[in-house]
Amino acid sequence: MTVTATPLTKNDALNVVDRLQVMLAHDLAATETLLKERATSPVAVIPDLSGYIVSAGGKRLRPIITLAAAHACGTANHGTHALATAVEFIHTATLLHDDVVDDSDLRRGKKAAKNVWGSNASILVGDFLFARAFTLMVETGNIEILGILSDASSVIAEGEVRQLAAAGRNDLPTEEYLAIIEAKTAALFEAAARAGALSSGENCASHADALAAYGKNLGLAFQIIDDALDYGGTTSVIGKSVGDDFREGKTTLPIIIARRRGSSDDQTFWDRVMDVELQREGDLAHAIHLIRSTGAAEATLAEADAYAALAKTALKSLPQSDWTKALADLADFCVSRAH
Ligand code: IPE
Ligand code: IPE
Ligand code: MG
Ligand code: MG
Repeated sequence: MTVTATPLTKNDALNVVDRLQVMLAHDLAATETLLKERATSPVAVIPDLSGYIVSAGGKRLRPIITLAAAHACGTANHGTHALATAVEFIHTATLLHDDVVDDSDLRRGKKAAKNVWGSNASILVGDFLFARAFTLMVETGNIEILGILSDASSVIAEGEVRQLAAAGRNDLPTEEYLAIIEAKTAALFEAAARAGALSSGENCASHADALAAYGKNLGLAFQIIDDALDYGGTTSVIGKSVGDDFREGKTTLPIIIARRRGSSDDQTFWDRVMDVELQREGDLAHAIHLIRSTGAAEATLAEADAYAALAKTALKSLPQSDWTKALADLADFCVSRAH
């Protein structure tokens, strides 16, 4: 049999995030400039704290989705840059709030802002970034997009509160887990994609639903992988402390599956440790062991793969281009983080 090697183009040889960074170099540069410019304030703690978390990096996945969605429909314009910035500000604001709620000490490989400036400042600067996101959206003059991102912002908050109410619930149904992650994470991915598509021009409304479905399913896959990494990742790679969810008594998919598949002794274990007051040394290691030995780790990844596949299917109705290809590869990349 003759195997004909297909020569890799320069772009194919790069990992998809690097590739998108090349494809979006101009748009991302404009977005980074806006992220800096719009976080300014005469009140020094605001640029200090927001500059600290914004410049700590972060994958910029959500603005990348907004920008690439616009290109998949037509082209990105100044309004798209403003929206990509707004989306990253909303994300950053939720991270500042989330680290207070979750009492997390590490974010983007650095001390959480709350550990440097305190929780009060973190919450208030989060509010400031939310407000700045809305100013940017208003500047685009597109009331429909303003509505989409406003709705997403309230849904994220609902998701976070819903999760708070579920803390310590060891019998959390999978449907409730999925509803929580759809709200707290997938809603912003969905809105980021839809807003990007709509910003691209009049003809894009017909593609916006497909891109929104892509964003939502990608967001679900992304959060499931993030939850898997809390038990299987390494702190240096994820830039967050491994086991944060466990120490908080947060019931995520790996636990739901491991508990369902476990022996009665295992169930007694899960019932105890989900009450954080009753956790003992060695419990996290045992939890990781059970998640692996019951096949829950693999089943969790399979669930994420299924959502990534739905994300890719949603792209099929769009005109096929380098942009749809990159978005499809991005779905694979998001799940490959944990494989
Ligand atoms: C973290 O999102 C919050 C989740 C939805 C899991 P990211 O992993 O995209 O965070 P950054 O922006 O890259 O730090
Ligand atoms: C991510 O929440 C979603 C939001 C920040 C709204 P998590 O608590 O699951 O994410 P990490 O692990 O802190 O990034
Ligand atoms: Mg958290
Ligand atoms: Mg949280």
